[in-house]
Amino acid sequence: MCGIIAYIGQKPAHEILIRGLHRLEYRGYDSSGLTVMDKNKINTLRAVGKVDNLSEKVNDSWESKPAKEATSGIAHTRWATHGLPTEENAHPHTDNSGKISLVHNGIIENYQQLRSKLESKGYKFYSETDSEVLCNLISELYNEDIEEAVVQALKMVEGTYGIALVCSDEPERLIAARRGSPIIIGLGEKETIVASDVSALVQYTKQVIYLNDNDIVTINRDEGVTEIFDITKTHVSREVEEVDWDLGSAEKGGYEHYMLKEIFEQPEAITNTFRGRLNLDEGTAILSGLNLTPKKIVEINRVLIFACGTSLHASMLGQYFFEDYAQLPSNVNHAAEFRYRNPIVEKHTLALAISQSGETADTLAAVREAKRKGADVWGLCNVVGSTIARETERGIYLHAGPEISVASTKAFTTQVMVLLQMALKFGRCHRLSRSEGVKLCQHIESTPELIREMLKEAENIKKIALKYKDYDNCFYIGRGYMYPVALEGALKLKEISYIHAEGYHAAELKHGPIALLEESVPVIALANDVDGKDKIIGNVEECKARKSPVILTATKGDEEVKSLSDDIIWIPEASAPIAAILTTVALQLYSYYVAVARGCDVDQPRNLAKSVTVE
Ligand code: G6P
Repeated sequence: MCGIIAYIGQKPAHEILIRGLHRLEYRGYDSSGLTVMDKNKINTLRAVGKVDNLSEKVNDSWESKPAKEATSGIAHTRWATHGLPTEENAHPHTDNSGKISLVHNGIIENYQQLRSKLESKGYKFYSETDSEVLCNLISELYNEDIEEAVVQALKMVEGTYGIALVCSDEPERLIAARRGSPIIIGLGEKETIVASDVSALVQYTKQVIYLNDNDIVTINRDEGVTEIFDITKTHVSREVEEVDWDLGSAEKGGYEHYMLKEIFEQPEAITNTFRGRLNLDEGTAILSGLNLTPKKIVEINRVLIFACGTSLHASMLGQYFFEDYAQLPSNVNHAAEFRYRNPIVEKHTLALAISQSGETADTLAAVREAKRKGADVWGLCNVVGSTIARETERGIYLHAGPEISVASTKAFTTQVMVLLQMALKFGRCHRLSRSEGVKLCQHIESTPELIREMLKEAENIKKIALKYKDYDNCFYIGRGYMYPVALEGALKLKEISYIHAEGYHAAELKHGPIALLEESVPVIALANDVDGKDKIIGNVEECKARKSPVILTATKGDEEVKSLSDDIIWIPEASAPIAAILTTVALQLYSYYVAVARGCDVDQPRNLAKSVTVE
């Protein structure tokens, strides 16, 4: 989704802004732009497509111009919501007087009314965006104090925003504000960097302030952050926090794509989820972030999980874990449905929000709805300091490190791992015995090594991927723990290769989709040697009878299933929850190699965004 980077300091701003935009590219976007403030003059350039197009424009248009020496500015990557991805709709937007330049993430819901009012006063609009309306609203309210104009304008808008703006009458200032869309202030040496995402500023500083909703901040070139206040102009104090990862974690490190790097990082990422969190003597998980006594845990009588996309698939596995290990009733909800249904939240219901980014609009709204209904709401997030992490009462961080590729990989497997540890902890407060707990701890601990073994299959998986790359349709089928894995496998393939892939419960195949099976539609059947294998073999026979080519995932050494398949991906032997993780890794690799072979933009697939901050 849209990204913001802004700078005020001593260095040439355009370089920092362009570099920041490149770091934001992974979020998904379709145009970009920047404004630099050269003394009292606003210079804006915008371009459709990749940031490189903008960069070229900067080099062509500003060659040896003062704009290149300007030391403050704002920039944006836009993911179209209101209006097509055109240059006119790209940010920054400038007000009619040409004094104010603004970048905006989020959606101003009452922009039509505001636009009509401004038009009746003679304002002209050059884009279809809500953001240009906000820019002109600030302009309308401007009376020699840009800070005051922003406060007044934000009081009038409904919806969400993360904004940064500059005003040519006050070139030593930069203003930023947030409501529902993240803004982070990076505090450097005689410079301040504002961004919507830590990855865009971590190169310059690790000292950051996360703005809360309704916060407005004014930054002066020399003094930095002078004051943070809320929309009623009441001073608020925000802590300076230290970012705990560095630039290296956000770079490709020799891999061709972030996605491949992140797939290969999974042994380490998984280790980070359980380091210091397992008690092997007692056969339980520690999870100090939850800060709960066993007495409190046994009071929980239902878990409501909500999430979107890949996180929803991890949640489905979580539901199985809670049922199997902790005998706890649990339900998985599409976050977008949860917020608009009238969900029943009983006493002692635990609501669990799962989100890599911690910013997904629907998941955040579900958090708020669950709170309104009196639930205890916990969060499982990867991004430290994200909105969901801050708005939930308790939580567990995934510690997966930054995930840059739009298609989620290590976030999924670490979510599954943390859910397994939660089920272990809850289970030990219920019927799970010490010896069963110890066994599960051992399985968890063995996972990184098993993933390493799985990753050694990459070349074989690539060969299979090359054989099937030109098929435009595909089914994934699974049962039990392998059912969510089938859904996730299909999602990954469609996200990055644009192949029409459907994940189905193997038993559901007969209720419709089997009508589509023929020679040109391969089926990937998850026939690992875990519960459900016998039944899925029957389903595979049904597919073969319809001439579909069959790719199987199977447990290493399980010769019995070999004759059923056209191609086979061997998965190291492991207990069912760990086999689900290993099989996911295999399917991630499969999707990756298919997408590369089809010439797709693996890390930034068309139309997709890393963090979906609109409904
Ligand atoms: C987007 C991303 C997916 C992600 C989903 C939920 O669709 O492209 O990869 O799974 O959002 O994101 P979250 O950050 O809440 O896990």
